[in-house]
Amino acid sequence: MEDVFLRAEKIAAQIEEKIGGGLPSVGLILGSGWGGASDLLSDAVMLPYASLCGMPRCGVSGHAGEVVVGRTGKAVAAVFCGRFHLYEGRSCGEVVLPVAVLHALGVDKVLLTNAAGGVNRAFSVGDMMILADHINMTGVNPLLGVKPRDKYPVFVDMSDVYDASLSDALRGSLLAEGLSVRAGVYMQLTGPTYETRAEVRAFRVLGADAVGMSTAVEAMYARYLGMRVAAVSCITNLAAGMGGKVCHEEVLEQTALREKKLSRAICSFAEKAVSL
Ligand code: HPA
Repeated sequence: MEDVFLRAEKIAAQIEEKIGGGLPSVGLILGSGWGGASDLLSDAVMLPYASLCGMPRCGVSGHAGEVVVGRTGKAVAAVFCGRFHLYEGRSCGEVVLPVAVLHALGVDKVLLTNAAGGVNRAFSVGDMMILADHINMTGVNPLLGVKPRDKYPVFVDMSDVYDASLSDALRGSLLAEGLSVRAGVYMQLTGPTYETRAEVRAFRVLGADAVGMSTAVEAMYARYLGMRVAAVSCITNLAAGMGGKVCHEEVLEQTALREKKLSRAICSFAEKAVSL
């Protein structure tokens, strides 16, 4: 595997130079339709991925393809608007690159957001699901082939991927916006197809509450680096066989409907996270 550490360090050095001081302490990696949060940051420096040597370009609608570093309250946050997905044919190294760049910038707390299909029959469209745990159903592991480094052993404990106090803070921020908040198990698949009805039935039996195409692999890599992680899904649709048809436009529409609330909630989370 390409050396993600080295690539991330080079990208982080360019970001540091461009922002000139005020290094971030919280990182946000935003999923489909969640990008509005970066508009709420003050003293924001916007860095299109295309301006950062070594950073891949973003190819999916709903993903702007820029890093924004700015302030919210006392926090300085680095926001990746646009992530890289396995379904684009990306390597795991590219998928985890934003996490590695945040780590290279000195960030030790990260929030991952995504859009997901509800599998749990009690869930409704518009619910926010805080990730209590995940099932990595992609068939890949981001640490495959990683060079063992003294500080970063590769046999990483995954029994508590999602940090309890960050998750509590996140719950508070989402509830304060009047959003309906659930907790559950997220299952990551590669996509890009949505699931069959039979798969959704099977995944429910396996313990999934929601399905999506990101996040678990990034969370695993963040834990490898010793970062604390929180994650949230916007349930944009009910998974196959539970209602209507699933399509990307509907996914974007459902996040767009809640964009202001989601943006305010994650900025409020970033403000709390600095002191946790
Ligand atoms: N399945 C997989 N990924 C998704 C879905 C879904 O139903 N909705 C949003 N992302």
